[in-house]
Amino acid sequence: MARPITLHQPKRLEIGAGASARLGAWAENAQRVLIIASEHTIGFAERLGLGNKASIFSDVPAEPDDRALGAAREAARALRPDLVVGLGGGSVLDVAKLVAALWDGSQSLDDVVGPDKVEGRRTRLAQVPTTAGTGSEAGIRALITDSATHSKKAVESPHLLADIAILDPELTWSVPPAVTAATGIDAMAHCVEAFTNIRAHDLIDGYARMGIRLVGKYLARAVENGRDTEARAGMMLASYYGGICLGPVNTAAGHALAYPLGTRLGLPHGLANAIIFPHVLAYNAPVRKEKTAEILQALGLPVFDDESQVLNAAHRFCEDLGVEMRLSAHGADPAALESWAGEAHAIRRLMDNNPRDMSASDVLGIYRATL
Ligand SMILES: [Fe+2]
Repeated sequence: MARPITLHQPKRLEIGAGASARLGAWAENAQRVLIIASEHTIGFAERLGLGNKASIFSDVPAEPDDRALGAAREAARALRPDLVVGLGGGSVLDVAKLVAALWDGSQSLDDVVGPDKVEGRRTRLAQVPTTAGTGSEAGIRALITDSATHSKKAVESPHLLADIAILDPELTWSVPPAVTAATGIDAMAHCVEAFTNIRAHDLIDGYARMGIRLVGKYLARAVENGRDTEARAGMMLASYYGGICLGPVNTAAGHALAYPLGTRLGLPHGLANAIIFPHVLAYNAPVRKEKTAEILQALGLPVFDDESQVLNAAHRFCEDLGVEMRLSAHGADPAALESWAGEAHAIRRLMDNNPRDMSASDVLGIYRATL
């Protein structure tokens, strides 16, 4: 409790069915608006009520790298927007943060990698997520893949914070069940990894508990019926709380192990985290007994403290949501696991947050168990 921490949140939060239409009124005095989207989310642009002052850049790929960011910055330089809107999943929102902060300045991406390197931002930023998972709209961090090394670069700055975030469950109606499940587990993983973190803090634990409970209550319903608006709203809120957890505490081994599955195997971020989640929860259980029991209970699972029983219960939770949990079914080559393990183990900014030390061979053991 005594450790000083800082919590940033968007200046304004709108939440509820149809809330995305409120952006137009908020942005009434904006002259030129650049909407950053992907080919999947471009169709939602007209719901934002921005009329013809909005231009759209919809070229953000699933795992954006520095080149994708460069193209988005070019589009912004040509338009000179006074408002940037992120409309999409976590990748789109991260690109929108960096475009809003960097398009009109002299700083390059490499100049701003790390904490507190962004000098400022003059362009307003609105974030409108279309998936419930990353919680990127809540926070001050943006991740971009390095096209040369395939590793993730993290930029962290209060200048990346949204002026307004809008959580409209209707935008997630059409997310397919398997993607709903995987991204929902990712949102939960943000809460769980912050909650069991070596840097855990009571302020963040509160949000983590609320997020995990919402996942326990609503994720299965959202997977079952995509148009269950209450469940979709619950999951958007869980994702937002997860985003708050990412700020001052952040994730730990779970996300470190998931990264190579994204960058090397090409798995979507949510799916990679869903596959890893039960293993890291179980690995950490012996050193976080009470909190692990709380997590299992919040998810509606029987409470165990034996590592293998925790693993089985959490694994079944993910499988029951329809997630294909076997890495081999996603085309993983067993011969590659050792190098991925070395890579994951080297992500010290996350691994050092883990409550139980994990060696490279422990990581390899987990990857093997997921095959
Ligand atoms: Fe995540």
